[in-house]
Order: sequence, then C-alpha cells, then structure tokens
Amino acid sequence: MSILDKHATLERNATLLLVGSLLVVSIGGIVEIAPLFYLENTIEKVEGMRPYSPLELAGRDIYVREGCYVCHSQMIRPFRDEVERYGHYSLAAESMYDHPFQWGSKRTGPDLARVGDRYSNEWHVQHMTEPRSVVPESVMPSYAFLKETTLDVNNIAANLKANKAVGVPYTDEMIDNALADIKAQSDPNADTSGVEARYPKAKLGDFDGNQQRLTEMDALVAYLQMLGTLVDFSTYDDTTGYR
Ligand code: HEC
Repeated sequence: MSILDKHATLERNATLLLVGSLLVVSIGGIVEIAPLFYLENTIEKVEGMRPYSPLELAGRDIYVREGCYVCHSQMIRPFRDEVERYGHYSLAAESMYDHPFQWGSKRTGPDLARVGDRYSNEWHVQHMTEPRSVVPESVMPSYAFLKETTLDVNNIAANLKANKAVGVPYTDEMIDNALADIKAQSDPNADTSGVEARYPKAKLGDFDGNQQRLTEMDALVAYLQMLGTLVDFSTYDDTTGYR
C-alpha cells in the first residue's frame, strides 16, 4: 500500500479529512502567530525616524481632517515603476508613529510619501490655494481657506499626550515644550535650538508667506515638507537593512 492509497482513505472520510485539515491549518497558524507573542517589535528599526514635531502633527491632523487621503496614498510599493517615479519604497518604520496610518488605496493624485523637499514652500501654498494655476490639468480642489485660518494651538500638548498614550515615544520634555515648539518652528525670528534638538531635520521658518500669523497652511506645508525626508537612504541597504 503506497502512501497515496492512504491518502485516498482520508479523502473518502469527511470527518477524518476535516480533522486532518484543521490540524494542518493550525500548525501553519501557530508558526505564523506564536512568534508575535515573544517578538518585542516586528517593525525593522531605521535610523532617523522620530515622532512628528508639534507643527507637523498639527499639519497631519489637517491632512486627515480635509480628507487628502481620499485622493493621495502615502505608500510607495516596491515595484520598479513606483520606485523610479517616487523614490525609495516605503518602510514600515516610516509610518510607525502614524495614528491612523495614511497608506491609503486611492491615487487620484500622486503618492505623497516622499513629497518633502520636492517643491518650495511657495509652490505648495500656490498649489493649495489654486491648484490649476501651477498644474493646469489638475482636478485637485482648492484649499485657499487654510491660509486664512489661524491654527488652533491650544490643544497641542494634549495632542502629543494622546499620541503618547497609543505608543508614540513623546517625552515629558516634548510635551511641556509643545506650545513653545509649535510657535518656534514657524517663526523665522525665534530661537529654534529646542525644536532642532528635539526634532532633528524639522523644517524651520515661515511656511505660508505670512509671518504675522500662524495658520493652518503653515502646519500643513510643514508636514508635507517633512514627508519621506527623515530616513537617510544613502546608508540603507535594501536586502540587509543598514550596512
Ligand atoms: C479630489 C482629489 C484630491 C484631493 C481631495 C486632494 N488632492 Fe492633492 N492632488 C490631486 C491631483 C489629481 C494631483 C495632481 C495634479 C496636481 O499637481 O495638482 C494632486 C497633487 C498634489 C500634490 C503635488 C504632488 C506631486 O508630487 O506633484 C500635493 C503636494 C497635494 N496634491 C497635496 C494635497 C493635500 C495636502 C490635500 C488635502 C488638503 C490634497 N492634495 C487633496 C488630487 C487631490
């Protein structure tokens, strides 16, 4: 009796087949699930990732509020056409401080995961104000009102605290300085040493072209200009991580 004949017995007995299938599926399940209970972290560590600065976090909240994710993804897939167009594919670590993450699945407009540093602040403000003045064929809506709306900074420390509660490693120092940092990052005349020490690579200065006022446009542009710029890919090896 060959082994295949034994298999025929299994195939002809529904109960035995069910028990056998469950056994095989549960072995597969345990192999995949069990390690998650003792691995501390499944996200590969990368250098450069840090929690969002208070201004970037406020900008991110506006991004979510305005539903930018309805037309824009933030997830560059590891395919040649995507990598050639947008840059290095997205790493899990790059969205580990996002609650909720902004990967998205709809691209009416381009992916924004690496839009930081691609355009000037002025370009972003002009584009948000009237997209068709810089990209004539654009179907993106105008967000001109962001320039006219003062940014509500009163809850920024509480916002950092809430993010800390879900696992973002904001320190007490970051929370205590949140209000000062949100103002300093967007004020060209401020002492920015604190922001720079707490949030390396944070973009500084006035973002919306109006120094008199801290607006929602300042926060949104600060957020966009940071996207995809934190990890230094010149030291990253695709197959082994860091070299
Ligand atoms: C109805 C869909 C839609 C929505 C909603 C939308 N966009 Fe866009 N966006 C587009 C399209 C289409 C383009 C490409 C044409 C252009 O550059 O205007 C684009 C382009 C962009 C670009 C330039 C990207 C590049 O690499 O050239 C940025 C930045 C951007 N959008 C940001 C935003 C932000 C921020 C929001 C939310 C406040 C937003 N968009 C909402 C459709 C949308």
